[in-house]
Amino acid sequence: MTGFSADWLSLREPYDVRARSTKVLAAVSTALATLPTLSIVDLACGTGSTLRALAPQLPTRQSWKLVDNDLGLLLRAAQASHPRAQVTTTPVDLVRDLEAVLDGPLDLVTTSALLDLVSESWLERLATEVAARRLPFYAALSYDGRITFEPSDSFDGAIIVAVNEHQHRDKGFGPALGPDAADRAIAQFETVGYSVVHGAADWLMEPQDRDMQAALLDGWANAARETGQQSLAEIATWLTRRSDALSHGQSSIRVGHIDVFAAPMARR
Ligand SMILES: C[S@@+](CC[C@H](N)C(=O)[O-])C[C@H]1O[C@@H](n2cnc3c(N)ncnc32)[C@H](O)[C@@H]1O
Repeated sequence: MTGFSADWLSLREPYDVRARSTKVLAAVSTALATLPTLSIVDLACGTGSTLRALAPQLPTRQSWKLVDNDLGLLLRAAQASHPRAQVTTTPVDLVRDLEAVLDGPLDLVTTSALLDLVSESWLERLATEVAARRLPFYAALSYDGRITFEPSDSFDGAIIVAVNEHQHRDKGFGPALGPDAADRAIAQFETVGYSVVHGAADWLMEPQDRDMQAALLDGWANAARETGQQSLAEIATWLTRRSDALSHGQSSIRVGHIDVFAAPMARR
């Protein structure tokens, strides 16, 4: 499974749904409660998971514009639905055309699992452009660098260090913020005069969550190999130990994420 494949997005979505911070979702829905209709743009929509998670929390009719640069994912996103939501999809490269998607009548900008892929300068551009339009902004599921395993293994720490270094590699937006994304987003939106609500949105994987755990373990071993920090043999034996624990129903994993809602402060 690749980073953005439909199979991977579909495997992770139930964990995302359970992880999303209810405090942050409630802040989004309260902030928009008085509007009779809502116009929303979802940046890097994938197959439409934010629409599926957020639309039921919003009591009014909604018009969703889903944007992504992957045409295959957008085809699937076009099927995303909710009785109160009207959906359109648009191919957009957010590196090139961010400003264009924020133009037009909008009440909310959303995204999920995007901010850890972007650079500090792109995030600053996003915060500046969103603030220039005085739009509220909901960003769910930014990875924050915390991974815990149960039972623990003496090599876990080395893998986590490598994974977090790998997270900073360029994903098309410049050097990625990786685990720093949520902290930087909170700071950037506070700098442009927004009030920010944030909350933990951790993936929790129990022993029965074998497919998700196996996909993560493989991905982390690959990332560790690519950083070259540890020997291939050490990484392979770590993966074997973790996979054995998983196949014996003895592995649990928590992965830390942060959700953020930033809203312009009322003008006096
Ligand atoms: C980790 S996925 C998250 C997808 C979705 N938001 C979710 O939570 O399931 C990252 C998404 O960013 C999109 N993406 C990456 N680079 C992009 C770019 N330059 N312009 C638009 N979308 C981009 C990918 O195609 C992918 O759908």
